[in-house]
Amino acid sequence: MRLYLSIAVLMMTVAVSVAQAAEPILIRFSHVTGDNTPKGQGAVLFKQRVEERLAGKVRVEIFPRSLKFNDNQVMLALLFGDVELAAPSLAKFRSFSPKLQLFDFPFLFDDVEAVHRFQASAAGRKLLGSMTDRGFKGLAFWENGMRAMSANRPLRVPADLKGLRFRIEPSAVMQAQYRALSVATVPMPFKQVRDALKLGLVTGQENAWSNIYSKRFDDFQKYFLDLGHSYLGYMLVTSAEFWDSLPPDTRSELEEIIVEVTAEVNRIAREKAQSDRQKIIDAGRAKIVTPTHEERQEWQRVLKPTWKKFEAEVGKELIEAAMQANR
Ligand code: SIN
Repeated sequence: MRLYLSIAVLMMTVAVSVAQAAEPILIRFSHVTGDNTPKGQGAVLFKQRVEERLAGKVRVEIFPRSLKFNDNQVMLALLFGDVELAAPSLAKFRSFSPKLQLFDFPFLFDDVEAVHRFQASAAGRKLLGSMTDRGFKGLAFWENGMRAMSANRPLRVPADLKGLRFRIEPSAVMQAQYRALSVATVPMPFKQVRDALKLGLVTGQENAWSNIYSKRFDDFQKYFLDLGHSYLGYMLVTSAEFWDSLPPDTRSELEEIIVEVTAEVNRIAREKAQSDRQKIIDAGRAKIVTPTHEERQEWQRVLKPTWKKFEAEVGKELIEAAMQANR
């Protein structure tokens, strides 16, 4: 009798461990934009490909539009194991990797092609590993686009901004940029920007075209300046502990999928930077101005000196490497 009981217990234990072993690994991907943005589409594509190619092994849940965490919270959530994947904008990493502030420098990169050349260089790729000692693993850079500014008064030259109150990402570089323009700043999560513009809590903002269009900031902002002064992109990031815990074959398949999805995200970003900008023009509620060469020079004259303040944190060599990516 005792022998039968022991065999039954053993069989149940084996059954439970088989069931546990068969449970797919869960990747919860938290981000702040909608599905109709490059990042949102990238998350959906990632889920599709993972579930096709790692069926039964890995499952992906996406939490877009800050449904789970905003960007101020998500890095700690990765470390605590509350989510496994995030893609905050590069402006949001200062406390984890001060060197990443480089991407916010006004007029550092001529265009997104220059950013890509830099990110593909040895110095750029190294930045993906710049948070290892803090427990994070950078998996890829994802693109959105160059930033435009907006307000409810015509903007052309730096003096036009004087006295405005701009929403900024929590970036010390952006803070310095607007200080140089005599503009007050209010750092706030992306989720709150539309309401803040609607209520007049802020009177201006800057962002990439797909974010502006997806949130319809043109409902409350009548004048846009297509300045392209800085780059908005992302780092796809996970916790090093989670990544290292994956079975090696699963990890390499995920890495392959990330390479493919990154190429798609960057293609979508290029396309949306044009098409979402055009949709704002077509909607006819706002006017978009492109600065002349002389006006751009005036912006550069006011904004480029702000780099100096961050030279020690970012490193002269890295700034030099980034500048070399311009042709
Ligand atoms: C994002 O594109 O992730 C949001 C950027 C922002 O906070 O403006």
